[in-house]
Amino acid sequence: MLKSRIRTQEEIEKYLKELKDRLDDIKNAPVEEMTEFFANRIGEYNSVHLKNWGEEYAHIAGFFDDGLKTLLDIGCGTGLELRSIYRRFPDVKVTGIDLSETMLDKLRESYGDKDIELINADYFEYEFEENKFDAAMSFQTLHHFKYEKKQLIYNKLYRTIKSGGYYIESDYTACCYEEEALCLEAYEYLRKQNNIPEDMLIHIDIPLTLEHQFELMKNAGFKKVEVLHQNYGLAIIRADK
Ligand SMILES: C[S@@+](CC[C@H](N)C(=O)[O-])C[C@H]1O[C@@H](n2cnc3c(N)ncnc32)[C@H](O)[C@@H]1O
Repeated sequence: MLKSRIRTQEEIEKYLKELKDRLDDIKNAPVEEMTEFFANRIGEYNSVHLKNWGEEYAHIAGFFDDGLKTLLDIGCGTGLELRSIYRRFPDVKVTGIDLSETMLDKLRESYGDKDIELINADYFEYEFEENKFDAAMSFQTLHHFKYEKKQLIYNKLYRTIKSGGYYIESDYTACCYEEEALCLEAYEYLRKQNNIPEDMLIHIDIPLTLEHQFELMKNAGFKKVEVLHQNYGLAIIRADK
């Protein structure tokens, strides 16, 4: 099973110092539209992500309940998280949604033989059927959106999960309010500097604190929200309907 690792106060201070330097560099870098970002990195995407979060990808299925039959994966990308899911639940019917056709093409190379429905769309716009899935999940996709926008997706996830179902999220989480505020400030700065239209999705990390994550999930209606695992900036959270 996975072993959680949480930063000490000393590590947080060092991390924030490095983050400030990184954000200063980002403020001078070009902004990338979401699908372009992933299309430009498709060659190395899987190896970079497996290097950073290989353990979490390998063990994510362990957090699901026995008997999983239908699963929604939002921002499924190339489907790295599905390897573990299919190992434990070979017959699960997965619905994956992603903005990037390039990422979905890569996913098809790995799971073309599976009973999987792939939707190339924006999960904020797509209408999910009510009470459809035993569970939903997301892996490393929601840290690009602001608090208010994220509320919309948690509301939608709550509605599309069946009664008694659950949502599992593995994502970049801010260590503290300072990290959340620093990233948001850089994000707003870059949008303004580059005249980014309001409806354009861009690839900049704006993680929220666990406290804000919990608030959003509870606001959506989830009864119980808990952290299952932490690996420094990554947290796996489960929310029960
Ligand atoms: C870092 S990748 C994660 C992919 C996969 N879940 C994984 O962990 O390897 C983020 C994915 O989210 C997708 N994405 C970002 N915003 C999205 C949106 N609004 N609707 C659908 N997909 C989105 C991107 O296209 C990308 O494939």
